[in-house]
Amino acid sequence: MDIVKKSRGRNLFFSTDIEENIRKADIIFVSVNTPTKTYGSGAGKTADLQYWEKTARNIVRIAESDKIIVEKSTLPVRTAEAMERILNTMNKGIHFDVISNPEFLAEGTAISDLENPDRVLIGSHETDKGRRAREEIVEIYANWVPRDRIITCDVWSAELSKLVANAFLAQRISSINSISALCERTQADVKKVAHAIGMDSRIGSKFLNASVGFGGSCFRKDILNLVYICEHYGLHEVAQYWESVVKINEYQEGRFVKTMIHAMFNTIAHKRIALFGFAFKANTGDTRESPAIYVVRKLVEEHARVVITDPEALRNAEQDLKDLHEYVEFEPDPYKAARHAHAIAVTTEWDQYKTLDYKKIFENMEKPAFLFDGRNILDHQKIHEIGFNVYPIGKQSLVHF
Ligand code: UGA
Repeated sequence: MDIVKKSRGRNLFFSTDIEENIRKADIIFVSVNTPTKTYGSGAGKTADLQYWEKTARNIVRIAESDKIIVEKSTLPVRTAEAMERILNTMNKGIHFDVISNPEFLAEGTAISDLENPDRVLIGSHETDKGRRAREEIVEIYANWVPRDRIITCDVWSAELSKLVANAFLAQRISSINSISALCERTQADVKKVAHAIGMDSRIGSKFLNASVGFGGSCFRKDILNLVYICEHYGLHEVAQYWESVVKINEYQEGRFVKTMIHAMFNTIAHKRIALFGFAFKANTGDTRESPAIYVVRKLVEEHARVVITDPEALRNAEQDLKDLHEYVEFEPDPYKAARHAHAIAVTTEWDQYKTLDYKKIFENMEKPAFLFDGRNILDHQKIHEIGFNVYPIGKQSLVHF
């Protein structure tokens, strides 16, 4: 917000006059939504490109001079080619260069990711015109990004790198989550395993937190996109390999709920269960593809009474669970949410859940009280000593019976 306030009216303008601004622009960044297609061929896998295509058609209809079109949205590989065809079919004597400049920033850290990116990737055609257009985009970023972090390449490699980056990140989470299941069976501790392997600089320590599963609007969508492209080219084994990253994520979400049911004497019917966190990760109210959605739906299927608490995501949670309002409560105060509950399930790694007074919470719960830590953020030993039966991810459970 501060950044917007500082720049608005100086070199940052907001407008709904699309036509005028297309006409005036030399460079157009297209950042429209590309959700997973929900209908027709490729439904549930490939990206819905209707917004992108409409934008391209608008640009070509209105433009009166040459322009550089920058793909900022995440798109399937070879989209630029299709867009170029649309842009350059009208034969108005205008030239369009399509550049791929995928976005790697994450929610919650968007501004620092933008100000200090690991890398900026800019893809263009390896023609004179393409390289010139690419250089113009490089010049923009070079205002604040060191040159050695600005990578240039061909358009297809840039498009593919975006999908592959997200697929690799998600793959790390599915890898450690698969190992968390093994740890629970073998008395190993997934945090210790992650620490030990992460010290190997070839593996690296980031994105190795075992969890109830990954969520967010991108990982699943981008992997399914990759899977679809592989299938399209007949690379079935490659498609299956990447699809397994999504399957392990679904397995992990399912395993979390199964552990809850099993621990609570194989029935949770009419039991009150407090869900701590509904956002797909901490520091955001975004609930898209949040593992909590799956968890709540499964708990309700088992006739549990679910109370959801979250510092920022309750409004979205109410929307996501519109059809379940009869069975689900929304409560901003975690203490109230846990009152008379049989169990707490931590589904988002909010810092504030680490410092709650669990003794006080325990006193107001039904007994035996259960705590399922789907993010491994709590001090399990201490919570066990208070009286809880504790079930972390990828570690031994700590129970009193
Ligand atoms: C992700 C990528 O990190 C960004 O680089 C990318 O630009 C963005 O998608 C995108 O394509 O728009 P984001 O979805 O904001 O960013 O969230 P992440 O921080 O990557 O987390 C994704 C999910 O993985 C969350 O549910 C998080 O809780 C989970 N996660 C993350 C784990 O379960 N374990 C980890 O070790 C790390």
